[in-house]
Amino acid sequence: MTLARSPVLDPLTDRTLPYRMGQPGGRLLAGRPPRLGAEPLRDHAARLGPLPLGDPRRVLEELERSGLTGRGGGGFPVARKLAAARAAASAGCAHHVPHVVVNASESEPASVKDRTLCTLRPHLVLDGAAVAAAIAGANRVVVYAHRGTDRAIEALRLAVAERRAAGLPDPAWLVGVGPARYVSGEASAAASWLEGGEAKPRALRLPLAVGGIAGRPTVVHNVETMAHVALIVRFGADWWRQAGTMASPGSRLVTVHRGGPRGAELLEMVAPLTVGTLLTPPAPEDRDDGGRSPSSYEPGAVLIGGYAGRWAAADAVEGVPFTSDALAAVGLAPGCGVVAPLPKEACGVAAMATLAQWLAAESAGQCGPCLFGLADVAEGLQRLTERVSSRREVRNLRLLLGDIRGKGACHHPDGVVGMVESGLDVFADDVDRHARRRPCGATADLPAWPFPAPEEAWR
Ligand SMILES: Cc1cc2nc3c(=O)[nH]c(=O)nc-3n(C[C@H](O)[C@H](O)[C@H](O)COP(=O)(O)O)c2cc1C
Ligand code: SF4
Repeated sequence: MTLARSPVLDPLTDRTLPYRMGQPGGRLLAGRPPRLGAEPLRDHAARLGPLPLGDPRRVLEELERSGLTGRGGGGFPVARKLAAARAAASAGCAHHVPHVVVNASESEPASVKDRTLCTLRPHLVLDGAAVAAAIAGANRVVVYAHRGTDRAIEALRLAVAERRAAGLPDPAWLVGVGPARYVSGEASAAASWLEGGEAKPRALRLPLAVGGIAGRPTVVHNVETMAHVALIVRFGADWWRQAGTMASPGSRLVTVHRGGPRGAELLEMVAPLTVGTLLTPPAPEDRDDGGRSPSSYEPGAVLIGGYAGRWAAADAVEGVPFTSDALAAVGLAPGCGVVAPLPKEACGVAAMATLAQWLAAESAGQCGPCLFGLADVAEGLQRLTERVSSRREVRNLRLLLGDIRGKGACHHPDGVVGMVESGLDVFADDVDRHARRRPCGATADLPAWPFPAPEEAWR
């Protein structure tokens, strides 16, 4: 399949990125070219028509038929979460008016999809949130963003002002800006911040959809999820399911890191593409070395789903479609839609160590296995990278990973465990050479993945 290219402005860096679309037109990113920036309300309404906020029960049924699952990482069925909040709200008293939260934090450094969507199509995101509010019975929606995503925040605020001026029958909007910490994007951390506390995850006695912010039913959905809701309510579940596959319906935003000066590329996958297609090397003129060393773009392994995703050998997943069911069949998950290849010549041990170090430093420091366990994992991998470790230490590292799994109040440590465990398997040869203090033969630097310095503040 050929991929249509048009430029998109990366809202984080203001650099122009090649934006590739699986099919001309796309869906979430259809419409005016990205270089024109946010689509104003007037153009959005002219392109897509008014938002049909009909009977919430019918809308909920349509969402259920669509099979839409959350695009924030967990892949939970959207209709089920909304139905739980609606039921909890109707079972409670007037004080149980639910909350709806748009999770716009995009704390995964390797992803650009949510900030791009907020920057370019803010009304699609807000439409979806308005639908979620109507279903849950909420009269207020909070868009929870992170510091540092200024263009996305500005586009959202302008969009809210446009809607207010137009007198749309919307819920009340609030755009909140929390700390740019990795675990602050987790749903319970968002709820904690919105209650006035620190943006740290917390152990939940009840699902947020039943008893979240101030004990009220709280629906937290990712930006991309909300945008899909806005399309389903307009064009129906059957139309929406024409994209994707029977088992993984709908289009999906994917951030691909193929190296080169342009950093990430954002792709709306309408028809499913294989991991191999997503990893097609950039044209020579798009490479930072001008195409002089094509092999440095040949991936040996690929990290799928984000920094706390899982590694796979590139040739093992080359022909696997990037859909949740096909990836699940090989022990992977799309997560937040990140695909990050590691060149054949780069050191897998060093890649794991770098990721683990950054992720360990992002612990909220509340649970022992997360605070101390992840630090020990990072240190073990660093010792392995420096060839001062041993095969025995590698065996102990595996045992430590098993001890950490499932022990955190949130899934942060589990993500790190999955990344390292899969890496120890995929890079088994490199690991063994390092453990025996021999050269692994790596000649290339690690890709220039973003590792933002953690903010001190948790508010
Ligand atoms: C450590 C951690 C960080 C997370 N960060 C984000 C994030 O930045 N954005 C997001 O939408 N979901 C994030 N999630 C997932 C949320 O907890 C939650 O599942 C999601 O926002 C629900 O939206 P969805 O159902 O639309 O996917 C994170 C989860 C974990 C464990
Ligand atoms: S597991 Fe880690 S990030 Fe999650 S709540 Fe505990 S300390 Fe915080």
